[in-house]
Amino acid sequence: MASMANLIKTNISSIDRLLGGGVPAGSQIILAGGPGSGKTLIAFEYLYRGAKNGEIGIFFSFNEDTALLLRGIKDSLSELTDIDQLIADKKIVIFGYEETKTFMQKGSESTNYAFTGMISQLQSRIDDYHATRVVIDSLSYIRLYSKDPFEYRNLSTSLLVILGRQHVTSIITTELHSHSFEPQQEFYIYDGLILLERDSQDERSSKPTFQIVKLRGASHPHGPIPYQLTSSGLKINVSEG
Ligand SMILES: Nc1ncnc2c1ncn2[C@@H]1O[C@H](COP(=O)(O)OP(=O)(O)OP(=O)(O)O)[C@@H](O)[C@H]1O
Ligand SMILES: [Mg+2]
Repeated sequence: MASMANLIKTNISSIDRLLGGGVPAGSQIILAGGPGSGKTLIAFEYLYRGAKNGEIGIFFSFNEDTALLLRGIKDSLSELTDIDQLIADKKIVIFGYEETKTFMQKGSESTNYAFTGMISQLQSRIDDYHATRVVIDSLSYIRLYSKDPFEYRNLSTSLLVILGRQHVTSIITTELHSHSFEPQQEFYIYDGLILLERDSQDERSSKPTFQIVKLRGASHPHGPIPYQLTSSGLKINVSEG
C-alpha cells in the first residue's frame, strides 16, 4: 500500500477530524452540491481558516460580484468577525465576477485561446499573492464558456495541471442538478471529490449530508454524514474517538 501523502490541516475542525489530520498537500478537490448546499460558504471557510493560520488564500468567483458575495458570506458566517481584517491584510483575496469575467475576454474569439488566457490569469494572480489555498467557484460557470465537451475536458485538465504546478491546495465547486449523483467525466481527473447531497428526496424531512467519495492519498469514511451550516462555519456530525 502506498504511504499516505503529507497531510495539511484545513483547520475546518470537522473536516480534519474526518480525515485523520487533513488533506494531502497539493490536492485539487471538487466540492459538488445542489443550490444552497453550502459550496460557497464551505469553500470560503477553507480560505478563512487558512488565513487565520497565516496562509494566503484566493477566492475566484465566476458568478458573483465581490461586494454581494462578501455581504452574503459575512451575514451567514456572522461569528467570524475578522473577515474584513483578513481581507485588508491580504490574507484572503477575492476576485469576483466583475474581474473574473475579464479573464476570459483577454483571449480572442477562439474559445480555446480565451480559456487558456483565463488559466494564465489565474496563475499570475496565484503567483502575485503567493497563495497556497485557492477556491474556484464554480466550475459550472467556467463550463459555460466552452461549447465542445472534448475541448472543455482538455482545458479542465490544463487548469488542474496549472494548479498542481503552483503547489496550491484547492477547492473547486461545481453544481449538481439531479438528486441521484451521476459522475461527470471531469471528476475522475481531480484528486478529491466531496458531495453535498440530501439523504432523501423529501425536501421537508431530508437532511443534508457530506460525503467524501474519493481523496487520493488519504484514508476517509466513504458514506454520507449529516452536516450543518452554522454562523461559525461547517459542522459535520463526526463521532468522537
Ligand atoms: N448561519 C447559518 N445557519 C444555517 N444555515 C445557513 C447559515 N448561513 C447560510 N445558511 C444556508 O446556507 C445556504 C447558502 O450557502 P451557499 O451560498 O454556500 O450555498 P451554495 O451551494 O454555494 O449555493 P449556490 O448553488 O446558490 O451557489 C443557504 O441555504 C442558507 O440558508
Ligand atoms: Mg454558491
